[in-house]
Amino acid sequence: MRIDPREASPSDVYFAMTATIVPRPIAWVSTLSVHGIPNLAPFSFFSGVSGRPPLVSICVGNTRDGRPKDTARNIIDTGEFVINVVPSHMAEAMVQTSGEYPPVVNEFGAAGVRSVPAERVKPSRVGGAPAVIECTLHDVIEIKDGDEITNRMILGRIELIVVRDDAVDARGHIDARMLDPLGRLGGSDYALLGEHRVIRRPKV
Ligand SMILES: Cc1cc2nc3c(=O)[nH]c(=O)nc-3n(C[C@H](O)[C@H](O)[C@H](O)COP(=O)(O)O)c2cc1C
Repeated sequence: MRIDPREASPSDVYFAMTATIVPRPIAWVSTLSVHGIPNLAPFSFFSGVSGRPPLVSICVGNTRDGRPKDTARNIIDTGEFVINVVPSHMAEAMVQTSGEYPPVVNEFGAAGVRSVPAERVKPSRVGGAPAVIECTLHDVIEIKDGDEITNRMILGRIELIVVRDDAVDARGHIDARMLDPLGRLGGSDYALLGEHRVIRRPKV
């Protein structure tokens, strides 16, 4: 199969991308509106960006009626967010928070997720998340198609990373298997962390 963006529809290209760029980590992003309403939603166009300064990125599209999603608006308005790692047993709750709820709905409540205060920012952490990354807004890159802003790439500066103690060994190394992170594949498919291998880099 060949997918040529010059011929295929944007949605066909999008589905081909999400089924080939796999598995993707999921940032379960907690924010607060300017009115103090908590918001929680998953984003798998998520990546680490740089260690110095310590930056992560998420890319947030628009709602079906062309407005910025609540997460992007809240981050731009308040400058703060928390990325929660999704353990596999919270998969259903995470998907529940991806519904296009109106801004007045608190998705923690809608999905039955416990909220826990963060240390460096005002939005809450997800109770039960094995690792959290507390962030402030570093920059927003508006992604345009012609004149239309279709996505906002949000660069977050890491203020604090907290990993559950049982996922850290005696040498201070984080054991990814203990995080049990859910990965996203195409459509409604998800991946669990499978077998792991150690492969040393060449010393040249
Ligand atoms: C696993 C998963 C990953 C998602 N990744 C993204 C993403 O990277 N970018 C995006 O704009 N929407 C993504 N979505 C859809 C948003 O979660 C959804 O639009 C949500 O309603 C946004 O919530 P908000 O309006 O409260 O910000 C994803 C949904 C799921 C289930």
